[in-house]
Amino acid sequence: MTQFAGASDVPDLGRRQFMNLLTFGTITGVAAGALYPVVKYFIPPSSGGAGGGVTAKDALGNDVRVSQFLETHNPGDRTLAQGLKGDPTYIVVQGDKTIASYGINAVCTHLGCVVPWNASEDKFMCPCHGSQYNAEGKVVRGPAPLSLALAHAAVTEDDKLVFSPWTETDFRTNEDPWWA
Ligand code: FES
Repeated sequence: MTQFAGASDVPDLGRRQFMNLLTFGTITGVAAGALYPVVKYFIPPSSGGAGGGVTAKDALGNDVRVSQFLETHNPGDRTLAQGLKGDPTYIVVQGDKTIASYGINAVCTHLGCVVPWNASEDKFMCPCHGSQYNAEGKVVRGPAPLSLALAHAAVTEDDKLVFSPWTETDFRTNEDPWWA
C-alpha cells in the first residue's frame, strides 16, 4: 500500500515541478521581452562601445520626464533616481532650473549606505556612520574615504534623462575617477 501511495505521489510531484518550471519560464520570458527594447534602444547610439547609458527612472520605475520633473523640482533639489547598474543616483537641479550635466551616485563610499540629501545643511549626510559630502558629492567628513561617484547626465530630445559612465577627471578633486 505504501508503495502505491508513493507511486501516486510521483506524478503529482512531477506535475508541480513542471508547473514551477513553466511559471519560471514565463516570468523569464516576460522579463526578457520587457528588457529587449531598452537594450535595443541603447545599443545603436553608443555604437562606440563607450559603455552606454541608462535612462533615469523614478521610484516607480518609470522613465523620468525632464519637463515634468522640472515643474515639480526647484533649483538646488537633489532627487534620487535609478541610475547606472541600478544604483540610486541623484539628479541635480541647478540654479537656472536646468538639470546638471552630472548625477551623483548616492552609495556611501564607506560601507555602502544610501546617503540622503540634507537641504538645510546643503550636504549629503550619511546616517550610518556620519560621513558628509558637499552639494556636489565631494567628501568633507569621514569615515568615508572617497567622494561620491559621478555619472554624466544628459537630457535627450525625447525629454528623457540618460546617465552614462563618467570616466574623465573628477571635477571636484581634479583626480582620476576612483570608480572608473
Ligand atoms: Fe556611510 Fe558608513 S556607510 S558613513
